[in-house]
Amino acid sequence: MAVRDNELNAWDRDHFFHPSTHMAAHARGEAANRIVTGGEGVYIVDRDGRRSLDAFAGLYCVNVGYGRREIADALAEQARELAYYHAYAGHGSEPSIRLAKMVIDRAPAGMSRVFFGLSGSDANETIIKLVWYHNNVLGRREKKKIISRWRGYHGSGLMTGSLTGLELFHKAFDLPLSAVVHTEAPYFFRRADRSLDEDGFSQYCADQLEATIQREGPDTVAAFIGEPMLGTGGIVPPPAGYWDKIQAVLRKYDVLLIADEVITGFGRLGSMFGSGHYAIQPDLITIAKGLTSAYAPLSGVIVSDKMWRVLERGADALGAIGHGWTYSSHPLCAAAGVANLKLIDELGLVDNARDVGAYFRNSLAEALADHALVGDVRGDGLLAAVEFVADKGDRVFFDPALKVGPRLAAAMLAQGVIARAMPHGDILGFAPPLCLTRIEADVIVDAARKAVAEIAADIRPARAKKRA
Ligand SMILES: Cc1ncc(COP(=O)(O)O)c(C=O)c1O
Repeated sequence: MAVRDNELNAWDRDHFFHPSTHMAAHARGEAANRIVTGGEGVYIVDRDGRRSLDAFAGLYCVNVGYGRREIADALAEQARELAYYHAYAGHGSEPSIRLAKMVIDRAPAGMSRVFFGLSGSDANETIIKLVWYHNNVLGRREKKKIISRWRGYHGSGLMTGSLTGLELFHKAFDLPLSAVVHTEAPYFFRRADRSLDEDGFSQYCADQLEATIQREGPDTVAAFIGEPMLGTGGIVPPPAGYWDKIQAVLRKYDVLLIADEVITGFGRLGSMFGSGHYAIQPDLITIAKGLTSAYAPLSGVIVSDKMWRVLERGADALGAIGHGWTYSSHPLCAAAGVANLKLIDELGLVDNARDVGAYFRNSLAEALADHALVGDVRGDGLLAAVEFVADKGDRVFFDPALKVGPRLAAAMLAQGVIARAMPHGDILGFAPPLCLTRIEADVIVDAARKAVAEIAADIRPARAKKRA
């Protein structure tokens, strides 16, 4: 029986616990809800018939775009043939094994194994356990702390929420856990010392990292985790020379490097992996989102050959590894992954992200960089951000209570374009599907330009009134 609209709305308010949502406002019906019913290409459609260009690809994940038959068919076929079997004790399914091979074929040099999970968060939980296991096998029982960056995002579990360097994910959850230590965010636009150039700021970040390792004691620091390019913390490309200088410090103190490529893996930056893009040589890589373009939940931990050999020694000494999920390498998700990676190759989406990404970012900069309220336009590949400031010359940020970022995103949505108001700062984020065309890029830029003009007109009278 068809559900009547008003019932669905009421059930949504009464029974559905939404993630990252103001629970009370939602339950009371004060905040807008949106029930999405379909999607095609870069557009989604809701049950009220509103169509929006999704310039954030869901949560930077629907990389091949919506409505891809090839993946839907692969899912249906796999469901008919074998919907599930576990991967414990040497069991497997054809798509999981094929997908592992496809991932390693695309991964940076030196990688040899993939452990599949379901979300970016669980993959990072697995990673930290592997780091600890690895160091225990090597007899380094004290070397267990993990260094992460302020503004890094690595998930919202207990450990991964601790790794995440955003206060919102800590407060009232008793996080971060004590094994996690945070260091400087590679956020050039917000650097405290504005006299530093990019290279000088990268050196500052590396010096801060070294000071942190020395303060904690090198024998207690196991690993450093970072996204090749900061994502949820503000969409910020690394400053020039950053990864070279960071890696030199990690090598000096024998600290493992985890590249969290949940956003950057499989083409987002116009390269297959962010690690290759920025010359990073990680020991472990986290993948999720783009692995299936979110057609099914699947994540993975890519393990370097060097680390794998230590894990094998562990198995010989300790037996089967005590780690796994019921749904590790779920055959349906793996089938979606195989079809998705094939599609990325066939459609040339990595190159498209590079080419249309460059066009999109140039257009954004041309349209907005000179605006009085725009402090920074930045990005790489098809990942971009515009950061807003109250005073450009003195780099004064807006009072968060003004909600400039969310108002800009709402003004864009009213024009039928979804951009994301990033959670910390007044930042509009863009991460459209990798199949974006130049014409669609123009639609996004046009909506952004109009939204900025509209909100600027709103803010100016309010500020003038405040001064008067
Ligand atoms: C870099 C990064 N790591 C990890 C995660 C967590 O992934 P999930 O939400 O699938 O748990 C995210 C999610 O946005 C992410 O951006």
